[in-house]
Parts: sequence; C-alpha cells; structure tokens
Amino acid sequence: MNRRSFVKVSGASFGSIMFASSIAEFLTSCTKTTILNNTVGGTVQLAIVNETSFLTPLNIPVTVGSNATLNPQSTTATIGGNSLQVLGYQPNGILGPTIRINKGDSVNIKVQNSLSEPTNIHWHGLEIPVNMDGHPSNVINQSGSFNYQYSVSQRASLSWYHPHPDGYTASQVFKGLAGIFLINDSEEAALNLPSSENEIPLVIQDKRFSSTGIVYSPSMMDNMNGYMGDKILVNGVISPFKEVSTRYYRLRILNGSNSRIYNLAFSNNIDFTIIGNDGGLLKYPITVKSILLAPGERLDVLVNFAGATIGTEIFLQSNMFNTAGSMQGNQSFNILKFVVTKSVTDTFSVPTKLSDITTIAVSSASKTRNFTITSMQMQSGMMGQNGGGHQINGKVYDKNRIDEYVAANTTEIWTIDNSQGMEPHPMHIHALHFQVLDRTGGRNQLIASEYGWKDTVLVMPGEKVRVIVPFSSLTGTYVFHCHNLEHEDNGMMLQFQVS
Ligand code: C2O
Ligand code: CU
Ligand code: CU
Repeated sequence: MNRRSFVKVSGASFGSIMFASSIAEFLTSCTKTTILNNTVGGTVQLAIVNETSFLTPLNIPVTVGSNATLNPQSTTATIGGNSLQVLGYQPNGILGPTIRINKGDSVNIKVQNSLSEPTNIHWHGLEIPVNMDGHPSNVINQSGSFNYQYSVSQRASLSWYHPHPDGYTASQVFKGLAGIFLINDSEEAALNLPSSENEIPLVIQDKRFSSTGIVYSPSMMDNMNGYMGDKILVNGVISPFKEVSTRYYRLRILNGSNSRIYNLAFSNNIDFTIIGNDGGLLKYPITVKSILLAPGERLDVLVNFAGATIGTEIFLQSNMFNTAGSMQGNQSFNILKFVVTKSVTDTFSVPTKLSDITTIAVSSASKTRNFTITSMQMQSGMMGQNGGGHQINGKVYDKNRIDEYVAANTTEIWTIDNSQGMEPHPMHIHALHFQVLDRTGGRNQLIASEYGWKDTVLVMPGEKVRVIVPFSSLTGTYVFHCHNLEHEDNGMMLQFQVS
C-alpha cells in the first residue's frame, strides 16, 4: 500500500474511535471526506497488511557470545529484493546479532555510535545496574562509544536489546535496530528442549517502505495509535518461508514491532505449547490454539510438525481479535510459511514440568501503587504531536521528575488501570520481572503466556491489571512505560527511583 492510501485508512480508523459527543469537535480539525469515504462496510482496517509470496528463505541472525561490538549506523539491506536504506548494528542488514550467554557470564559489549544522532542500548529483560540499563537520558552521542559491562545472574530466558534514547527510540527501532539476547542455564538444559537448528528465533516486525528505504514518518494520528507497517517481516525478511522436518521445534518469538499486536495461530490449527515468556520458562506447559503477543513481549513455544505429509505448507498467521479497540485486530494475515520437507524420527516429548517458580504471596506486598492511563485524544486538537497523547496518572515523561520512590528489596503491587482507555497499552518495567496477579474488565482473565515471570504486560481497553513486583537491590532511577513506541516517545513513561 502506498503512503497516500495508508493515511486515508488510518484517518478512517481514527474517526471510528470517537465518542459521539466528540465527532463534531473532530470534524472541525479534520476533513469530513477523509473519514466518511474510507470506512468500508462498517469495518475499519488500519495499516492493511499486504502479504507477498513467501518465496524468500527465513534468515537466522548470526550468534555471538558475551564479548561483541555493535556499530549502529545508517546502511543498506536487501529486503524484498531491493537494496534499501536502513539502520543496522553492522553494515548491510537490519537487526543485530543474537547474543547468547550462560547464566553467570560477564558481558562486555562495545557500542560505537556511527549514527548522526544519539543512541544507546536498553537490555530489555535484563536485571542489571542502572548505569548499564540504557535509560532514555543516558545516551551515546554521535561518534561516541560506550562499553556495556555487567554480569548476568538471572535465569534462562529470551531478552532483547534495542535503542532507547529519549525521542528517538521509535524511529531507530523501526528503521532496524534491535536484536535478541538469550540466556541459557542448567535448569533449561536438563529439559533437552529442541536445540541448534531446531530452536528458531523469530523476530516479528511490521514495516513501511518507500522505494528507497524503511520509512518512519508518523502523523499525529500515528502518534496516537502507534505506527504500523503494511509489510510483516520475520528476522528482517518480508513474508519468509522455512523448511522443517516432521518433528518438534522450539520457537523463540519476539514481537519487535513498534505498536502492532499479533494474535498468533497456525493455519492448520495445530497447537502452540507455550513453555515460556518474557522471564523464562513457565512452571508447566500450556497448550493453546492462538496467543496474543504485544510489542516487547516474548514467547517460548513448542510446535510439532510430526504427522504432516511431505510438502505440507503451514502458515504462522495472525488472526483477527476484537479486544483491543478499533485500531488493531481487524485483519487476519500470514506471517511465515513452514514447508514440511523431510521425514524424521523424533523422540522428544514435552516435559510435564518445566521449572520451579515460587508464587509471590500478595501478603508480602508492602505497598500498592495505582497507575491510571488517560488519553488526550479528542479533548483538544493537540493529539499528542508534541507529547502527551497518553498519560500515566495525568503525567507525561519528564526526565527531571521522579514519579515514584521505591524501597529496595521490597515487594509492591502495581495496578495498571486502562478502564477509561480506548487503546491497548503493553506496559513495561525496566530491570526486573513481575508476576501478573489478575485482570479485571475487558478479557477478565490471564492468558497462557501470563503465568511465570513477565516484564511487559498488555492492558487492553477497559482492563485493570495487577502485577506483583519484587524490587531487588538494584538501586537508581529506572523507567516504566508503554511499549507502544510511539506512545513511549510521546511521553507515556514515568521514572521510579529505587533506593
Ligand atoms: Cu524494550 Cu524501555 O524498553
Ligand atoms: Cu526494558
Ligand atoms: Cu500505550
């Protein structure tokens, strides 16, 4: 889809979310024809996905260990057969290497900034000291470098890394800067899960392209809704395919999109066996037919292609969903094609127990904090262009203001209240993991991937979600924000200081 039709479509979507009383106000600032001419059959579609033909093999990012250099730069990548302008952590390609380490390792990653603007790296999911966390105001200036050095003592999991400079996060991530960070440990190794070529990392992202490169140019409405693309990429490849054998695979999935939520399912309705999430393995596997994955969230999934005849094509797809307001879930589309090409004997069976997870007692919480999400949409003509489209407790991010003071080594309950909201917000807390206690309103329950340890939780319109948060001895000023990166860059972020 070209830029022009995109704008028309998102204009239609935006119109549809208004309360009746706000329509007149909205019409004074937008042209009526834009809204009325583009609502097709009463169903609004935002950033319609155009699949291509699944003829390009899936790329698997190279893997490096605990010592590496990342060199964020403007470069080119071959995507969809075209050489395009992108941002990379190395020449000639988007996405950085997969960093794979063992629990207990010391990490030393040098970042040399060759961009023409500040950047930094946030290690999303890592429990590390504040000076290594990539706080939005702790940046590496143009031509500067920084060595991220920390040791990792947390359990096996799939974390990820991405830029987090205040105001530049969304554009830098969208243009290509992100990578996977895997931790292995002995608890995981004992399960003998599918490994090497049978463990497949999948970074799912949507992107918009011009004829020359990835385009990041959000309109006011994109800043309110989130910037979505019409092409779905996995590991930097548009509409890829992957040849598989008749056996179990372990899929390590990251939603690295700025704002798009996926409702993952297989085209032939085979099971997802969910074995882990943001913070590592669950206690027990849970089998589902579909699973929502919001920006920033990760999934550890077993899928079994045994029984499929050679030549079978099975799509990983995103199904429609109606729990996220009118901006998302309006279309089903294919993401990745698996082609069963080889018959093998597989002796793997899914373990009945995966890991030991202690449920944190509600009674151990010494404090409850409430975070109410509000939105400026339609209240004024501003629509967040200069920040402030969405607020947490009525506030917009201010680097000079500490919003919450937390005592180290205490446990708290945080309530995230989107009951007044009309948009989904994947809420993320830096440098720790929490357990989700409950969800009231909206979906009214937890989903299979919300047991165990999380660092990002999706709060749909109408929902109130309670999480229980054990703060560690990591002190300093960290951030808590929406991982819709347009929301985040426009100020949907607070600071908490642990001391
Ligand atoms: Cu992945 Cu503060 O974010
Ligand atoms: Cu993070
Ligand atoms: Cu948000």
